[in-house]
Amino acid sequence: PQPGPLTAPVMGWNSWNRFGCNIDENLIKATADAMVSTGLRDSGYTYVDIDDCWMAATRDSQGRLQPDPVRFPGGIAAIATYVHARGLKLGIYSSAGTATCQGLPASLDHEVTDAQTWASWGVDLLKYDNCNNQGRPALERYKAMGDALKATGRQIVYSLCNWGNDEPWIFGPNVGGSSWRTTDDINASWGSITSILDQQAGLEPFARKGFYNDPDMLEVGNGSLTQDENIAHFSLWALLSAPLLLGNDLRSVSSATLNILRNPDVIAVNRDWAGSQGRRVADTGDQEVWAKPMSDGSVAVALFNRGGGTATVATTAAALGLGGSSSYSTKNLWTGATATTTGALSASVPSHGVAMYRVTRAGTLSAAPAAGTYQVSDLS
Ligand code: GLA
Repeated sequence: PQPGPLTAPVMGWNSWNRFGCNIDENLIKATADAMVSTGLRDSGYTYVDIDDCWMAATRDSQGRLQPDPVRFPGGIAAIATYVHARGLKLGIYSSAGTATCQGLPASLDHEVTDAQTWASWGVDLLKYDNCNNQGRPALERYKAMGDALKATGRQIVYSLCNWGNDEPWIFGPNVGGSSWRTTDDINASWGSITSILDQQAGLEPFARKGFYNDPDMLEVGNGSLTQDENIAHFSLWALLSAPLLLGNDLRSVSSATLNILRNPDVIAVNRDWAGSQGRRVADTGDQEVWAKPMSDGSVAVALFNRGGGTATVATTAAALGLGGSSSYSTKNLWTGATATTTGALSASVPSHGVAMYRVTRAGTLSAAPAAGTYQVSDLS
């Protein structure tokens, strides 16, 4: 693939999960302000993405998309200026179809005009959906927009929302995409989160630096997810090298939720790239072990308990591919506690929770790391 604009998955916020079509320019600006005041921007969340329902029901007299005059009377360019002044970036949404998923005008056969419109407004990211696609080939539809974005000369991150229907992990990088949705839409329920998680298996080889599988946006802080469920969701999405797009109301975010979203050690797992996203390395019923290799030679691990009661989840340094050694150091990324072990790693994990660690070989190497256990080579 062409080199993309990203060196790590996108981090930011998107309006859809919490607000749907109930959006306007005041919400977007207040969210941008909240990203600064809560410290989320400084934790790395820089994109403010307006999802479906920003556009008016008709194009203008010159065939251009125009903002809904009631929701966005000041226009999108003014919002771009507003967020840029706060060190943030602006994302926008359309569909590779004749209408968006909510039935508003979309970009199929208008790719050049629309890309130029967004570039002229100062847009920095496009989420490109798949509704109302008229049964036309996905590659052709997504390539037309990728080419149009590139032709604007503006760096616009291209986020494909093909829901996994047409194997976007195969064509995505070749049309300029930086990420591609792998599934249907997430919702703020434990069943949705675990179902999407299970659908990631097998897609690991398609992610590479700058090009990422997208298991959909975060629901942390939405609905009635518990604190343990929110921690598990965030930990696992970080470990999957997923785009980290917040989907909650940042104007009223609780400190408990902020403490999850701003955890620097967990965010660092998401940003790092040592050749592979995270994957499930062990599965014993409701207890699972997920791991991602880190570029300093350590391994990030989530001991995950899907069951209805507290359970012990265990693994070993050898199973994590760390190589034989007399000792390993561990850091619990949610409590900050550090320890050493001769190889065993286990924790009592609450229902629907994770214990997350970074495990580093500390002692003398006595056997080669099990390279290839779950690292994959760069396929590009
Ligand atoms: C699809 C996408 C969602 C959201 C809606 C908007 O369902 O998958 O993420 O963008 O469209 O209508």
